[in-house]
Amino acid sequence: MTNNQINSGEVIYQVYPKSFLDTNQDGIGDLKGIIQKLDYIQELGVTTIWLNPIFSSPHVDNGYDVSDYYTIDPQYGSMELVELLIEEAHKRGLKILFDLVLNHTSSKHKWFQEALKGPDNPYRDYYIWKEEEQKGKLPNNWKSFFGGSVWEKESETGDYYFHLFDKEMPDLNWQNELVRKEMIQIAKFWLEKGIDGYRLDAFIHMEKEPGYPDARYADPGQLVSAEEFFANLPQVDDYLREFSASIREDYPDAYLLGEAASADPERAVKYTFPKGEACDSIVSFKYFPMDTTKKDDRFPLENQEGKLDIIAFKQVMDEWQRKVGEVSEMTLYLNNHDMQRVVSRLGDPTEFREESAKTLATTMYLQRGLPVLLNGEEIGMKNLELKRWENTRIERIHEVYATLLDRGVTKEEAQTHLGSISINASRGAMQWSDQIYAGFSTVEPWSGVNREAAYNVAAQETDTASILTFYKQLIQLKKTALFTHGSYEMLVSKSPIMAYRRQLEKEQAIVISNLSDEPQESLLDLTDFMEQDSTLSVGNYQYNNGKIVLSPYASLVIKSDYKGS
Ligand code: NOJ
Ligand code: CA
Repeated sequence: MTNNQINSGEVIYQVYPKSFLDTNQDGIGDLKGIIQKLDYIQELGVTTIWLNPIFSSPHVDNGYDVSDYYTIDPQYGSMELVELLIEEAHKRGLKILFDLVLNHTSSKHKWFQEALKGPDNPYRDYYIWKEEEQKGKLPNNWKSFFGGSVWEKESETGDYYFHLFDKEMPDLNWQNELVRKEMIQIAKFWLEKGIDGYRLDAFIHMEKEPGYPDARYADPGQLVSAEEFFANLPQVDDYLREFSASIREDYPDAYLLGEAASADPERAVKYTFPKGEACDSIVSFKYFPMDTTKKDDRFPLENQEGKLDIIAFKQVMDEWQRKVGEVSEMTLYLNNHDMQRVVSRLGDPTEFREESAKTLATTMYLQRGLPVLLNGEEIGMKNLELKRWENTRIERIHEVYATLLDRGVTKEEAQTHLGSISINASRGAMQWSDQIYAGFSTVEPWSGVNREAAYNVAAQETDTASILTFYKQLIQLKKTALFTHGSYEMLVSKSPIMAYRRQLEKEQAIVISNLSDEPQESLLDLTDFMEQDSTLSVGNYQYNNGKIVLSPYASLVIKSDYKGS
């Protein structure tokens, strides 16, 4: 089925502002840096920029702890600069999405500061509180995403407040109509300034199970991540629709990209259908099933994800395409600021870095849906090499490192491992050149930076075989009608080769990729295609007697006439 209304033809480029470009040499990316690089972004061919949060914040969680939604964090710039950014982006035909944190604020936000004044304060009910029932006993056994209990005792009254993330990020009480109105007002304020929409942070957590019951399956005294009590509850959908309706009354074209980490296809449909009533598209973190038997037992096993389970990944993509892709525009992404860099996590950052970067992008983005790229992905950036150990969110990092060396792991391997499990794995400074600090700054970047001769924008811009040049070609191809609006059919096979067909009117294409680091053979019937030249290709292949053998991480995109009806 083809529905020309569903797919927008947009391609989103995620900019992590803190790590993009530093123009005042304080080691922190800034708005001026983004403005300077708008031409670069435009030349990539993307159509929309999503900026991670830039509002005032104490940066306990890099801006996801907002202390004032109406001002720009001074480390990034000012109101004038953000207005200039919006204007300059629009001049280049680029849309711009801000990141709106709905579920919580910073503890430094004036609402929370007021709420702390006591139960009678009008802002008290903006947050979630529970009286202490038994001395020293937590209200329940739910574990926060950032470790420890979701409850924090407030010193004045002894009441507990609720926080799903850091204790400096108290959750808002969405049952309170005033909170819902505040958020709508904030959203409209920036839409009025001209932005084109939002990425909605952690919206699936806006409602918690009434009564906050204990998770029964936990051992006594143990805290558990009891998502069934605080993710995707039915009221979330109501709040989302109310928010969306109210915004779209004034800004009918506002784009809403929801972050719904634990959404399965059914929930994704719920959050995106019908068009214009909730989110336009959502990002689920469930696209990449990992084969947990493929762990390296020299390293702590609980930290490792294993390797991409390619067969399961194909099934997951097929299911999302059938269940979501037919109904709304599904998101296509390979990484973001919360997970490892794609070449490190899903590809091969050493032997097949070029091939795996290009082929993973081809495979993902030419499917039906909305590509969302993370800055740096287009030059094949890998995980940040960990040189500084603070703020990694790795518990007892020094001990872990020492144990690894005792086990005979080399220093380099140990650092690569720690880099992969660090919260900053994908937040390394953007690699613009091979200058000091990779051209990001003249002082050491807040995050650290990888400096690599071949993996920087300057080196790749002039190289016709580079990952960057390839990404530009791929994005142009993606924006053609066939790859935006065409139907999608996964060609099922049991090998690590993934192949699918896109078709629109008299045109069709096959995208066939080897997602493994070994040559792979496939018996798929490719007779309609193999006489044509490929439109895009990575690596090598041999085709004999209806059998194709692809080299590690090779891929082919081949178009042909469609003769069916
Ligand atoms: C999801 C964001 O992507 C992540 O970086 C952040 O820590 C949490 N939401 C909390 O806002
Ligand atoms: Ca700066």
